[in-house]
Amino acid sequence: MRVLGIESSCDETGVAIYDSDAGLLGHVLYSQIKLHAEYGGVVPELASRDHIRKTIPLINKLFDQTGLELTDIDGIAYTAGPGLVGALLVGASIGRSLAWTLARPAIPVHHMEGHLLAPMLEADPPSFPFIALLVSGGHSMLIQVDAVGQYRLLGDSVDDAVGEAFDKTAKMLGLPYPGGPELARLAEQGRADIYKFPRPMTDRPGLDFSFSGLKTYALNTWNASDKGAQARADIAHAFQEAVVDTLAIKCRRALQQTGLHRLVVSGGVSANTRLRQRLDKLAADQQAKVYYPRLEFCTDNGAMIAYAGCLRLQAGQYASATIEARPRWQLQDLDAL
Ligand code: KG4
Ligand code: ZN
Repeated sequence: MRVLGIESSCDETGVAIYDSDAGLLGHVLYSQIKLHAEYGGVVPELASRDHIRKTIPLINKLFDQTGLELTDIDGIAYTAGPGLVGALLVGASIGRSLAWTLARPAIPVHHMEGHLLAPMLEADPPSFPFIALLVSGGHSMLIQVDAVGQYRLLGDSVDDAVGEAFDKTAKMLGLPYPGGPELARLAEQGRADIYKFPRPMTDRPGLDFSFSGLKTYALNTWNASDKGAQARADIAHAFQEAVVDTLAIKCRRALQQTGLHRLVVSGGVSANTRLRQRLDKLAADQQAKVYYPRLEFCTDNGAMIAYAGCLRLQAGQYASATIEARPRWQLQDLDAL
């Protein structure tokens, strides 16, 4: 089965074709970074308008690159949520209409299920069950994954998501949007042991996360510093260490608590080099194995949506001919395959 996937939940337009026999046939991505940079963050209305401009040309490019025709597609998957409603509606409208025109089934895909399954596109995919750490701009979650669609939420963010905390702290330090990768780059020039930031919610049992206090801690440290270039890098370093350490402590807890030995890490923040180093070490200590998507599939992309949609369509799931956008949608509410 060959599935066209469309991602448009935030500031990236991604399209891809996944074939259940041959694997990923092609993918194309367009990032709106330049569009939002001057505002220091994503402007939802501008995002929607840009998805409208870009989605169909990107689909054309994808078909040119793969040498396929629209009629070679057996089904269409589109991100239905969670995300920005206007942005979601663009991919949903185009995906659903295309499916209707071609008389093919369409499946609304949960964006975080896409992230969660992204490591399955790699050469050595994890087998079930496993623990998934999902860390993106909108979510920080620890999930026990027993099978596709069987998700047990072990820990969730009580305030800011990890990526959001990276972005807000970066902005406060005067770094351009998107702040996460910029802050990570700056942290490399920071010195260890100059500042020691707290590890939120690690002194009590449980797997929930809270990162907004860390952002305030960074702000107060910045205001008390000489606001020079070295102080900025030292704060970036201390912030990143605190985030990475906190995530690693919770991952170790989740592995120990469940007795599982496989850890999947995905979502935008899984591109972070320091986080990968720390979790690789944790996995070695715990006799566990950690799985990541390739770097370009850590952040939003169409490939993960085509893949997740393909699994569901193959299992006989599809939606009625309505355009679905679900800005708030719980991962635990998904049907099992
Ligand atoms: O998964 P994603 O592309 O979009 C959402 O679903 O939210 O994640 C984007 C988030 C942003 O907050 C971005 O700053 C963060 O991932 N991010 C990073 C890195 N690369 C992306 N954060 C820290 N270090 C990175 N290298
Ligand atoms: Zn995402």
